[in-house]
Amino acid sequence: MLPRVILGRTGLRVSCLGYGSMGIRGPKTWGVRTVNDEHAEKILNAILDMGINFIDTSPDYGLSETRIGRFLSSRRDEYYLATKCGCVYTQHKDHLEIDHQWRKEVIERNLHESLQRLQTDHIDLLQFHGGDAETLEREGLLSQLQDFRSQGLIHHIGVSSKIPNLAGLIDLNFFDTFQIPYSCLSPEHGDLITRAGESGAGIIIRGGIAHGGPDAEIQRPVLNDLWHEAKLDELIPKGMTRAELILRYTLSHPYCHTTIVGTCDPQHLAENVTASRLGQLPEPIYREISARTQRESE
Ligand SMILES: NC(=O)c1ccc[n+]([C@@H]2O[C@H](COP(=O)([O-])OP(=O)(O)OC[C@H]3O[C@@H](n4cnc5c(N)ncnc54)[C@H](OP(=O)(O)O)[C@@H]3O)[C@@H](O)[C@H]2O)c1
Repeated sequence: MLPRVILGRTGLRVSCLGYGSMGIRGPKTWGVRTVNDEHAEKILNAILDMGINFIDTSPDYGLSETRIGRFLSSRRDEYYLATKCGCVYTQHKDHLEIDHQWRKEVIERNLHESLQRLQTDHIDLLQFHGGDAETLEREGLLSQLQDFRSQGLIHHIGVSSKIPNLAGLIDLNFFDTFQIPYSCLSPEHGDLITRAGESGAGIIIRGGIAHGGPDAEIQRPVLNDLWHEAKLDELIPKGMTRAELILRYTLSHPYCHTTIVGTCDPQHLAENVTASRLGQLPEPIYREISARTQRESE
Protein backbone atom coordinates (compact mmCIF):
# COMPACT_ATOMS: atom_id res chain seq x y z
CA MET A 1 0.00 0.00 0.00
CA LEU A 2 1.25 3.49 -0.80
CA PRO A 3 1.42 5.73 2.28
CA ARG A 4 -1.54 8.12 2.64
CA VAL A 5 -1.08 11.74 3.72
CA ILE A 6 -3.67 14.32 4.76
CA LEU A 7 -3.83 16.97 2.03
CA GLY A 8 -3.78 19.97 4.34
CA ARG A 9 -7.12 21.54 5.21
CA THR A 10 -9.01 19.48 2.60
CA GLY A 11 -8.73 16.57 5.04
CA LEU A 12 -8.48 14.19 2.04
CA ARG A 13 -6.25 11.15 2.64
CA VAL A 14 -4.25 11.08 -0.59
CA SER A 15 -1.50 8.71 -1.71
CA CYS A 16 1.91 10.38 -1.39
CA LEU A 17 2.40 9.54 -5.07
CA GLY A 18 -0.37 10.98 -7.24
CA TYR A 19 -0.84 10.79 -10.99
CA GLY A 20 -0.36 13.70 -13.40
CA SER A 21 -2.37 12.77 -16.47
CA MET A 22 -1.04 15.31 -18.98
CA GLY A 23 0.88 12.53 -20.76
CA ILE A 24 -2.31 10.77 -21.89
CA ARG A 25 -3.45 13.83 -23.82
CA GLY A 26 -3.32 12.00 -27.16
CA PRO A 27 -2.62 13.14 -30.71
CA LYS A 28 -2.76 16.69 -32.08
CA THR A 29 -1.48 18.21 -28.84
CA TRP A 30 1.93 19.60 -28.00
CA GLY A 31 3.62 16.41 -26.84
CA VAL A 32 6.33 14.54 -28.63
CA ARG A 33 4.69 11.19 -27.95
CA THR A 34 1.24 9.92 -28.74
CA VAL A 35 -0.54 7.59 -26.35
CA ASN A 36 -3.47 5.71 -27.91
CA ASP A 37 -6.73 4.70 -26.18
CA GLU A 38 -5.64 1.17 -25.39
CA HIS A 39 -2.41 2.37 -23.79
CA ALA A 40 -4.24 5.08 -21.80
CA GLU A 41 -6.80 2.56 -20.51
CA LYS A 42 -4.03 0.24 -19.29
CA ILE A 43 -1.98 2.90 -17.56
CA LEU A 44 -5.00 4.54 -15.88
CA ASN A 45 -6.21 1.25 -14.46
CA ALA A 46 -2.67 0.34 -13.42
CA ILE A 47 -2.31 3.51 -11.35
CA LEU A 48 -5.40 2.62 -9.29
CA ASP A 49 -4.31 -1.03 -9.01
CA MET A 50 -0.97 0.19 -7.62
CA GLY A 51 -2.68 2.21 -4.86
CA ILE A 52 -2.62 5.75 -6.28
CA ASN A 53 -5.83 7.56 -5.33
CA PHE A 54 -5.21 11.13 -6.52
CA ILE A 55 -5.41 12.11 -10.21
CA ASP A 56 -4.68 15.55 -11.63
CA THR A 57 -5.99 16.62 -15.03
CA SER A 58 -7.17 19.71 -16.88
CA PRO A 59 -9.63 20.67 -19.63
CA ASP A 60 -6.66 21.73 -21.74
CA TYR A 61 -4.81 18.41 -21.58
CA GLY A 62 -6.28 17.17 -24.87
CA LEU A 63 -8.01 13.81 -24.39
CA SER A 64 -6.96 13.40 -20.75
CA GLU A 65 -10.32 14.18 -19.07
CA THR A 66 -12.29 12.21 -21.66
CA ARG A 67 -10.09 9.17 -21.17
CA ILE A 68 -10.28 9.34 -17.37
CA GLY A 69 -14.08 9.47 -17.69
CA ARG A 70 -14.26 6.66 -20.22
CA PHE A 71 -11.80 4.28 -18.60
CA LEU A 72 -12.08 5.02 -14.87
CA SER A 73 -15.56 6.35 -14.10
CA SER A 74 -16.72 2.84 -13.16
CA ARG A 75 -14.08 2.99 -10.38
CA ARG A 76 -14.93 6.58 -9.30
CA ASP A 77 -14.98 5.77 -5.57
CA GLU A 78 -11.32 4.68 -5.74
CA TYR A 79 -9.81 8.09 -6.52
CA TYR A 80 -9.93 11.81 -5.81
CA LEU A 81 -10.17 13.90 -8.92
CA ALA A 82 -8.46 17.26 -9.35
CA THR A 83 -8.99 19.31 -12.48
CA LYS A 84 -8.51 22.95 -13.45
CA CYS A 85 -10.32 26.01 -14.75
CA GLY A 86 -9.64 29.24 -16.58
CA CYS A 87 -8.76 27.21 -19.68
CA VAL A 88 -9.51 28.24 -23.22
CA TYR A 89 -8.43 25.82 -25.91
CA THR A 90 -8.92 25.36 -29.61
CA GLN A 91 -8.25 22.10 -31.40
CA HIS A 92 -6.73 22.85 -34.79
CA LYS A 93 -6.18 20.20 -37.45
CA ASP A 94 -2.70 19.37 -36.24
CA HIS A 95 -2.30 20.94 -32.78
CA LEU A 96 -4.05 22.17 -29.62
CA GLU A 97 -3.77 25.87 -28.89
CA ILE A 98 -4.23 26.88 -25.23
CA ASP A 99 -4.80 30.11 -23.36
CA HIS A 100 -5.99 31.08 -19.87
CA GLN A 101 -8.73 33.64 -19.29
CA TRP A 102 -10.08 34.82 -15.95
CA ARG A 103 -13.76 35.29 -16.74
CA LYS A 104 -16.85 33.75 -15.12
CA GLU A 105 -18.18 32.34 -18.42
CA VAL A 106 -14.90 30.46 -18.99
CA ILE A 107 -14.85 29.02 -15.45
CA GLU A 108 -18.53 27.99 -15.67
CA ARG A 109 -18.03 26.32 -19.05
CA ASN A 110 -14.85 24.55 -17.88
CA LEU A 111 -16.59 23.03 -14.85
CA HIS A 112 -19.64 21.78 -16.69
CA GLU A 113 -17.63 20.33 -19.57
CA SER A 114 -15.20 18.68 -17.13
CA LEU A 115 -18.05 17.04 -15.19
CA GLN A 116 -19.41 15.69 -18.47
CA ARG A 117 -16.08 14.48 -19.83
CA LEU A 118 -15.02 12.95 -16.51
CA GLN A 119 -18.45 11.26 -16.17
CA THR A 120 -18.87 12.34 -12.58
CA ASP A 121 -21.27 14.47 -10.51
CA HIS A 122 -18.52 16.23 -8.54
CA ILE A 123 -14.89 17.34 -8.73
CA ASP A 124 -12.96 16.76 -5.50
CA LEU A 125 -10.59 19.67 -6.17
CA LEU A 126 -11.06 22.46 -8.71
CA GLN A 127 -7.90 24.51 -9.27
CA PHE A 128 -7.39 27.77 -11.09
CA HIS A 129 -4.87 26.97 -13.84
CA GLY A 130 -2.76 30.01 -12.94
CA GLY A 131 -3.97 33.57 -12.42
CA ASP A 132 -3.03 36.23 -9.86
CA ALA A 133 -4.73 37.21 -6.61
CA GLU A 134 -5.92 40.63 -7.74
CA THR A 135 -7.55 39.40 -10.97
CA LEU A 136 -9.21 36.35 -9.43
CA GLU A 137 -10.71 38.53 -6.68
CA ARG A 138 -11.69 41.43 -8.93
CA GLU A 139 -13.49 39.18 -11.43
CA GLY A 140 -15.50 37.51 -8.64
CA LEU A 141 -14.00 34.11 -9.42
CA LEU A 142 -13.22 33.17 -5.81
CA SER A 143 -16.87 33.56 -4.82
CA GLN A 144 -17.92 31.76 -8.00
CA LEU A 145 -15.97 28.70 -6.88
CA GLN A 146 -17.45 29.02 -3.37
CA ASP A 147 -20.91 28.90 -4.99
CA PHE A 148 -19.95 25.74 -6.88
CA ARG A 149 -18.81 24.29 -3.57
CA SER A 150 -22.11 25.16 -1.85
CA GLN A 151 -23.91 23.38 -4.68
CA GLY A 152 -21.78 20.26 -4.11
CA LEU A 153 -20.35 20.40 -7.63
CA ILE A 154 -16.84 20.75 -6.25
CA HIS A 155 -15.56 19.85 -2.79
CA HIS A 156 -12.36 21.89 -2.47
CA ILE A 157 -10.71 24.91 -4.12
CA GLY A 158 -7.08 25.16 -5.18
CA VAL A 159 -4.71 26.93 -7.53
CA SER A 160 -1.79 25.82 -9.66
CA SER A 161 0.81 28.55 -9.50
CA LYS A 162 4.44 29.59 -9.42
CA ILE A 163 6.66 32.66 -9.05
CA PRO A 164 5.76 35.56 -9.41
CA ASN A 165 2.03 35.07 -8.60
CA LEU A 166 2.26 32.38 -5.93
CA ALA A 167 3.13 34.58 -2.91
CA GLY A 168 0.09 36.84 -3.42
CA LEU A 169 -2.18 33.81 -3.75
CA ILE A 170 -0.87 32.34 -0.48
CA ASP A 171 -1.48 35.70 1.22
CA LEU A 172 -5.18 35.58 0.28
CA ASN A 173 -5.52 32.79 2.84
CA PHE A 174 -8.34 31.39 0.71
CA PHE A 175 -7.11 28.23 -1.01
CA ASP A 176 -7.39 24.67 0.27
CA THR A 177 -4.44 23.55 -1.90
CA PHE A 178 -1.54 24.83 -3.97
CA GLN A 179 -0.03 22.97 -6.93
CA ILE A 180 3.60 24.03 -7.25
CA PRO A 181 6.58 22.93 -9.40
CA TYR A 182 9.54 21.52 -7.47
CA SER A 183 12.38 19.00 -7.58
CA CYS A 184 16.07 18.96 -6.68
CA LEU A 185 16.73 20.11 -10.27
CA SER A 186 14.15 22.90 -10.00
CA PRO A 187 14.37 23.92 -6.34
CA GLU A 188 13.38 27.61 -6.58
CA HIS A 189 9.91 27.17 -5.02
CA GLY A 190 11.15 25.29 -1.93
CA ASP A 191 10.61 28.18 0.53
CA LEU A 192 7.22 29.17 -0.90
CA ILE A 193 6.09 25.55 -0.54
CA THR A 194 6.99 25.78 3.15
CA ARG A 195 5.11 29.08 3.49
CA ALA A 196 2.02 27.66 1.77
CA GLY A 197 2.20 24.46 3.84
CA GLU A 198 2.55 26.41 7.09
CA SER A 199 -0.68 28.24 6.23
CA GLY A 200 -2.49 24.89 6.51
CA ALA A 201 -3.04 24.36 2.78
CA GLY A 202 -2.51 21.02 1.04
CA ILE A 203 0.60 20.90 -1.16
CA ILE A 204 0.60 19.11 -4.51
CA ILE A 205 4.00 19.09 -6.17
CA ARG A 206 4.29 18.85 -9.92
CA GLY A 207 7.45 18.08 -11.88
CA GLY A 208 8.55 16.04 -8.85
CA ILE A 209 10.55 13.52 -10.86
CA ALA A 210 12.05 16.23 -13.11
CA HIS A 211 10.91 14.24 -16.15
CA GLY A 212 13.24 11.42 -15.09
CA GLY A 213 16.35 13.66 -14.86
CA PRO A 214 19.32 12.94 -17.12
CA ASP A 215 17.83 9.54 -18.06
CA ALA A 216 14.66 11.10 -19.44
CA GLU A 217 13.41 9.97 -22.83
CA ILE A 218 12.41 13.58 -23.44
CA GLN A 219 15.60 15.48 -22.58
CA ARG A 220 15.56 18.80 -20.66
CA PRO A 221 19.10 20.28 -21.04
CA VAL A 222 18.71 22.88 -18.24
CA LEU A 223 17.82 20.19 -15.70
CA ASN A 224 20.65 17.96 -16.90
CA ASP A 225 23.16 20.80 -16.53
CA LEU A 226 22.25 21.30 -12.87
CA TRP A 227 22.47 17.56 -12.25
CA HIS A 228 26.02 17.43 -13.63
CA GLU A 229 27.20 20.73 -12.09
CA ALA A 230 26.02 19.60 -8.65
CA LYS A 231 27.70 16.21 -9.27
CA LEU A 232 24.63 14.39 -7.99
CA ASP A 233 25.82 11.04 -9.35
CA GLU A 234 28.32 11.03 -6.46
CA LEU A 235 25.45 11.01 -3.96
CA ILE A 236 23.43 8.08 -5.32
CA PRO A 237 23.52 5.14 -2.93
CA LYS A 238 24.33 1.77 -4.50
CA GLY A 239 21.32 0.23 -6.21
CA MET A 240 19.33 3.47 -6.43
CA THR A 241 18.42 4.94 -9.84
CA ARG A 242 18.65 8.65 -10.67
CA ALA A 243 14.85 8.86 -10.97
CA GLU A 244 14.43 7.30 -7.51
CA LEU A 245 16.84 9.82 -6.00
CA ILE A 246 14.94 12.72 -7.58
CA LEU A 247 11.51 11.44 -6.56
CA ARG A 248 12.52 10.63 -2.99
CA TYR A 249 14.15 14.06 -2.67
CA THR A 250 10.81 15.63 -3.62
CA LEU A 251 9.01 13.40 -1.12
CA SER A 252 11.48 14.58 1.53
CA HIS A 253 10.24 18.17 1.41
CA PRO A 254 8.46 18.53 4.77
CA TYR A 255 5.36 19.94 3.07
CA CYS A 256 5.09 17.63 0.07
CA HIS A 257 1.72 16.00 0.71
CA THR A 258 1.55 14.39 -2.73
CA THR A 259 3.51 14.64 -5.96
CA ILE A 260 1.65 14.09 -9.22
CA VAL A 261 4.21 12.29 -11.34
CA GLY A 262 3.29 11.66 -14.95
CA THR A 263 4.19 8.40 -16.67
CA CYS A 264 2.82 6.27 -19.47
CA ASP A 265 5.34 3.49 -18.88
CA PRO A 266 4.20 0.63 -16.60
CA GLN A 267 7.81 -0.10 -15.63
CA HIS A 268 8.38 3.51 -14.54
CA LEU A 269 5.07 3.44 -12.67
CA ALA A 270 6.16 0.36 -10.73
CA GLU A 271 9.55 1.95 -9.96
CA ASN A 272 7.90 5.16 -8.78
CA VAL A 273 5.53 3.26 -6.49
CA THR A 274 8.42 1.30 -4.99
CA ALA A 275 10.43 4.51 -4.47
CA SER A 276 7.43 6.23 -2.87
CA ARG A 277 6.94 3.34 -0.47
CA LEU A 278 10.57 3.79 0.63
CA GLY A 279 9.74 7.48 1.12
CA GLN A 280 12.06 10.25 2.22
CA LEU A 281 15.81 10.10 1.55
CA PRO A 282 18.18 9.58 4.48
CA GLU A 283 18.69 13.01 6.08
CA PRO A 284 22.46 13.43 5.26
CA ILE A 285 21.87 12.76 1.53
CA TYR A 286 18.88 15.10 1.49
CA ARG A 287 20.91 17.86 3.13
CA GLU A 288 23.89 17.41 0.80
CA ILE A 289 21.71 17.47 -2.36
CA SER A 290 20.02 20.64 -1.08
CA ALA A 291 23.34 22.34 -0.41
CA ARG A 292 24.82 21.45 -3.80
CA THR A 293 21.78 22.28 -5.94
CA GLN A 294 21.22 25.56 -4.11
CA ARG A 295 24.86 26.55 -4.61
CA GLU A 296 24.83 25.65 -8.33
CA SER A 297 21.50 27.29 -9.09
CA GLU A 298 22.47 30.63 -7.51
N1 LIG B 1 0.59 24.65 -14.84
C1 LIG B 1 0.18 23.49 -14.40
O1 LIG B 1 -0.79 23.40 -13.66
C2 LIG B 1 0.90 22.23 -14.79
C3 LIG B 1 1.99 22.29 -15.68
C4 LIG B 1 2.65 21.10 -15.97
C5 LIG B 1 2.24 19.91 -15.39
N2 LIG B 1 1.16 19.87 -14.55
C6 LIG B 1 0.69 18.61 -13.93
O2 LIG B 1 1.80 17.94 -13.35
C7 LIG B 1 1.93 16.62 -13.91
C8 LIG B 1 3.40 16.22 -13.98
O3 LIG B 1 4.12 17.21 -14.68
P1 LIG B 1 5.27 16.90 -15.72
O4 LIG B 1 4.83 15.82 -16.64
O5 LIG B 1 5.66 18.21 -16.30
O6 LIG B 1 6.48 16.43 -14.81
P2 LIG B 1 7.02 14.99 -14.29
O7 LIG B 1 5.93 14.21 -13.68
O8 LIG B 1 8.23 15.31 -13.46
O9 LIG B 1 7.56 14.30 -15.61
C9 LIG B 1 6.85 13.38 -16.38
C10 LIG B 1 7.89 12.69 -17.27
O10 LIG B 1 8.75 11.91 -16.44
C11 LIG B 1 8.97 10.65 -17.01
N3 LIG B 1 9.14 9.66 -15.94
C12 LIG B 1 8.25 9.37 -14.95
N4 LIG B 1 8.74 8.41 -14.13
C13 LIG B 1 9.97 8.10 -14.61
C14 LIG B 1 10.99 7.18 -14.20
N5 LIG B 1 10.83 6.39 -13.13
N6 LIG B 1 12.13 7.14 -14.92
C15 LIG B 1 12.34 7.94 -16.00
N7 LIG B 1 11.40 8.82 -16.46
C16 LIG B 1 10.22 8.90 -15.75
C17 LIG B 1 7.75 10.35 -17.85
O11 LIG B 1 8.08 9.57 -18.98
P3 LIG B 1 7.50 8.05 -19.14
O12 LIG B 1 6.09 8.19 -19.61
O13 LIG B 1 8.42 7.47 -20.16
O14 LIG B 1 7.62 7.39 -17.80
C18 LIG B 1 7.28 11.75 -18.30
O15 LIG B 1 7.84 12.09 -19.55
C19 LIG B 1 1.23 16.73 -15.27
O16 LIG B 1 0.81 15.48 -15.77
C20 LIG B 1 0.07 17.62 -14.92
O17 LIG B 1 -0.93 16.86 -14.28
C21 LIG B 1 0.50 21.03 -14.22
